[in-house]
Amino acid sequence: MRLHVADHPLVAHKLTVLRDAATPSATFRLLVDELVTLLAYEATRDVRTREVEITTPVAVTTGTKLAQPRPLVVPILRAGLGMLDGMTRLLPSAEVGFLGMQRDEETLEAITYANRLPEDLSGRQCFLLDPMLATGGTLVAAIDYLLQRGAHDVTAVCLLAAPEGLRVVEEFVGDRADVQVVVAAVDERLDERAYIVPGLGDAGDRLYGVV
Ligand code: URA
Repeated sequence: MRLHVADHPLVAHKLTVLRDAATPSATFRLLVDELVTLLAYEATRDVRTREVEITTPVAVTTGTKLAQPRPLVVPILRAGLGMLDGMTRLLPSAEVGFLGMQRDEETLEAITYANRLPEDLSGRQCFLLDPMLATGGTLVAAIDYLLQRGAHDVTAVCLLAAPEGLRVVEEFVGDRADVQVVVAAVDERLDERAYIVPGLGDAGDRLYGVV
């Protein structure tokens, strides 16, 4: 597993405002959107391309376009949905699938309650969106889902990660696939409720209000 921590002053600034408990939902949503666009730039560094010949007003030249099959962007519901627009702004031609996963608050295990994904993901570059890589349970279940459908190239885009969760993902992945995790920051640890410390609280609640 490759880990990329986006080291940029704009990322650090936006993350600091997100962490602040006084930031209202409307500002939080806007900042997540902006932050994900910055992370998407890093996450797509190895997106597959092909050479194309084009004619500019001046000359014929060789350029670069995204290769087929189109990348697949998969937000993990509910909180990953808040990252979708920021990601597809940079990858408008991507296809979008959905995975509904929920953490059982007692066992902390990930339960899949919905999915809308192509059956065959062989040859597809997949981008999973989940703001908080906490215990790693949800992300491992989501990566497993994609690998079982034939994916080999998975990038998870997260706002924050805990070292404990990164270890769990790393152990699961081993060398069975090319998995990259792109985050704005790696925090200190998990608390006894498996919240990331210092973190930003419950990302779904902060995005959408408590439902
Ligand atoms: N999920 C969240 O939304 N926040 C955390 O800190 C951990 C898991």
